[in-house]
Amino acid sequence: MAGRSGFRRRTRRPLLDRNYLRLRGASIDPSRATPSSELAPGIIASDESPDTLHLSIGDAAGGSVALTSTLNTAFGCGSVAYGTGVLLNNEMDDFALAANAPNAYGLTGDQANSVVGGKRPLSSMTPTIVERAETGVRPLLVLGSPGGATIITSVLQVLVNVIDHRLPLQEAVDAPRIHHQWLPDEICHENRALPDDIARALEARGHRLRESAGTTGDVNSVGTDAGGRWLGAADPRRHGTALAW
Ligand code: DON
Repeated sequence: MAGRSGFRRRTRRPLLDRNYLRLRGASIDPSRATPSSELAPGIIASDESPDTLHLSIGDAAGGSVALTSTLNTAFGCGSVAYGTGVLLNNEMDDFALAANAPNAYGLTGDQANSVVGGKRPLSSMTPTIVERAETGVRPLLVLGSPGGATIITSVLQVLVNVIDHRLPLQEAVDAPRIHHQWLPDEICHENRALPDDIARALEARGHRLRESAGTTGDVNSVGTDAGGRWLGAADPRRHGTALAW
């Protein structure tokens, strides 16, 4: 599929990815039995997020889907609904136990987010479709991300990179990211996200900077070019792949 419809195939782990494709191909042909020899153990588990993932889809007719799915933290609450194989989430962590009590992502809520019916969870999930001004054309962008509190800033930076800085979609996704979530009161940044002069200028204004231990977000996106052709951009930070059929 590489190169078709403007999609660029990105593969960080070629072996896993090839096996994943075999499994995917088998799983979408309901008209014939899948030979057991085509199924290898452990491959889906090794490539699948234990908590949250985002996928973005665009079809030939201009339909699009931005889907963020989550268990909240890794393996949710660690329980499987009996007889189903379905892991149960621990989304209650997105509610505030008490004012100023941070959740797993360091977010603090207040009474509006308390563990009571009718209250609002502190979800950051931001599946996003950006339409073009014209009607009847494919959207400009379809995107979203896992990453708890960093989801909103990750999605926003890809939007700004494409819409304001006019970067090609893949460059917009690849670009290093920064993150601030009110509390803790600091700018967390990926390696090389802030040039030295910008970092010094921010510190001179009283900002506290901290380099993140890992990467920020996983914005697997699709979008369209000026001719309306779909483009795919997998985020190199995790294991995503852009594919076209
Ligand atoms: O709704 C939320 O914001 C969280 N449940 C998302 C959790 C998440 O992204 C975990 N990920 N890597």
